[in-house]
Amino acid sequence: MCGIVGYVGPGQALDVVIEGLRRLEYRGYDSAGVAVVADGAITTRKKAGKLANLEAEIAVDPLPASHIGIGHTRWATHGAPNDVNAHPHVSEDGTIAVIHNGIIENFAPLRDKLIAQGVTLRSQTDTEIVAHLLAQQMISTPDLGDALRAVCQELTGAFTLVVVHASTPNKIVAARRNSPLVVGRGVGENFLASDVAAFISHTRNAIELGQDQVVEMTPEAVVVTDFFGNPVEVKEYEVTWDAAAAEKGGYDLFMLKEIAEQPKAVADTLLGRIDLEGRVTLDDLTLDLDYIKNIDKIIITACGTAYHSGMIAKYAIEHWTRIPCEVELASEFRYRDPILTPTTLVIAISQSGETMDTLMAMRYAREQGAKVLAICNSNGSTIPRESDAVIYTHAGPEIAVASTKAFLTQIVACYLFAMYLAQTRGTGYGEAAGEIALELGRMPSKIDLVLDTSGAVNAIAKKLIDKQSVLFLGRSVGFPVALEGALKLKELAYMHAEGFAAGELKHGPIALIEEGIPVFVVVPPVEDELHDKIVSNIQEVRARGAMTIVLAEEGDESIVEFSDHIIRLPKCPALLQPLVSTVPLQMFSCEMATVKGYDVDQPRNLAKSVTVE
Ligand code: M6R
Repeated sequence: MCGIVGYVGPGQALDVVIEGLRRLEYRGYDSAGVAVVADGAITTRKKAGKLANLEAEIAVDPLPASHIGIGHTRWATHGAPNDVNAHPHVSEDGTIAVIHNGIIENFAPLRDKLIAQGVTLRSQTDTEIVAHLLAQQMISTPDLGDALRAVCQELTGAFTLVVVHASTPNKIVAARRNSPLVVGRGVGENFLASDVAAFISHTRNAIELGQDQVVEMTPEAVVVTDFFGNPVEVKEYEVTWDAAAAEKGGYDLFMLKEIAEQPKAVADTLLGRIDLEGRVTLDDLTLDLDYIKNIDKIIITACGTAYHSGMIAKYAIEHWTRIPCEVELASEFRYRDPILTPTTLVIAISQSGETMDTLMAMRYAREQGAKVLAICNSNGSTIPRESDAVIYTHAGPEIAVASTKAFLTQIVACYLFAMYLAQTRGTGYGEAAGEIALELGRMPSKIDLVLDTSGAVNAIAKKLIDKQSVLFLGRSVGFPVALEGALKLKELAYMHAEGFAAGELKHGPIALIEEGIPVFVVVPPVEDELHDKIVSNIQEVRARGAMTIVLAEEGDESIVEFSDHIIRLPKCPALLQPLVSTVPLQMFSCEMATVKGYDVDQPRNLAKSVTVE
């Protein structure tokens, strides 16, 4: 949460920083602010609401030209999302400006101490105290880097802090604990950001900062130390995508673009991982064979949409490998004393690789002796860095807050791993390997076919615009799809939506059925043992007045007489059906939010990566 940008170099800092903030706005959009250093003084502008408000403010009250600047987009934690609480925050004498992503957990005692010392706080944020602590520290430790290192030792919680000083016009100093921070190395200029997207149009050379590190950045140099000033060796890497991948590319919305990119995202995630005999090869997997053979339990942990992909993966993992598999919300995992042993494999799924709950869950698992495999879309992010092994999804940058292509590729990556496990351990799935592998390879073109249903799906959305509630039903892997359909509708269209396992209907949820309530039903393939049962569920809700929107495979005629609307899915094996059945639900929510006039890419109260617990 929160987007952070810093620039030092010959260019106009404000232009670079605003461009970076535009690319990072998906991380938080409660307020935006910038600070530049010019003529021995710091000047800030900050404004509640979207970046456009800040730009309008700067247009009427311009900032001085400068070659060093920092900027911030906020997702509010401490204090309301207003102008005063917007970052940057400055010290009382105005010489230090600070921006921050994360939560400083010992903020209250530090604030009380500052107040007792006579410091006047202007905001309700935890960030402002850092500006004052730094000002105090610099009395005895005049070097900005040393002062920041000393202050960081006092702080607990999660923080990326970026600081500029009025009398240091060519240096930005930043610190990182538990929240992301990446350096972009240019020629005679350098960048800092929460995400490479902020500087990708300037450089593709990046350095990911590790835990508890401080970076001091001038136009020519990047020096990294730990919080005690010990030098740290850093690894530079090249970002594999370019600026165009982080643009809308002719689409009105990032979400529409990302939905449309799903065939390619799935194909890229499969690329080179299945050989001609249908065998899975995961060359980069750093789990040794002896360990893999001894795994006796798998626990998948993740949040939100990633959690739903884990729920789907469980069906395949248990079916193909016969290894017991649990799926647990990362936010619950470490608080329930889970049973973890060295032969437990924890799979942490995360698009961003920065989700704090998932990070904390996997750290806990490792402390207890389990091994962790990350399924992640963001190269070099914290979760894969701290895992024993990683399988990257190749979805490319996902900018819209609502996760779409990341979800499909997470399922694919989990399936590849499940197949690899079964292959390596010689379990039941072995014989079916070639067939499933072949079918997976056909999924990109099948997803392409589902994209063609957008006209029909959008028409349904328009019809349902005045409905109060929408229900989603599914069974087996269709159940997490139903949950995902409901989550998308809640987060984008702000409608009440619930997903249920259709078999549970008669145990309570059927009481919600009343005249006209829309019920989406995900129907498994005709030959699946659950097919006829869910057709009965459709009849049960229809008999009570529900409007049924049925997602069923081509040629399934059994549902026709009980369906008010039918969305056809290409035929595929039941376990692979989520790769096609989710897509119309994504399109439905996107269209519903659009016709309601909501901001699809940046829904209210949300942020793309949730880097606070
Ligand atoms: O980056 P992650 O995959 O770890 O994010 C997990 C969730 O925050 C994320 O999937 C969230 O639920 C999406 N906004 C849903 O569309």
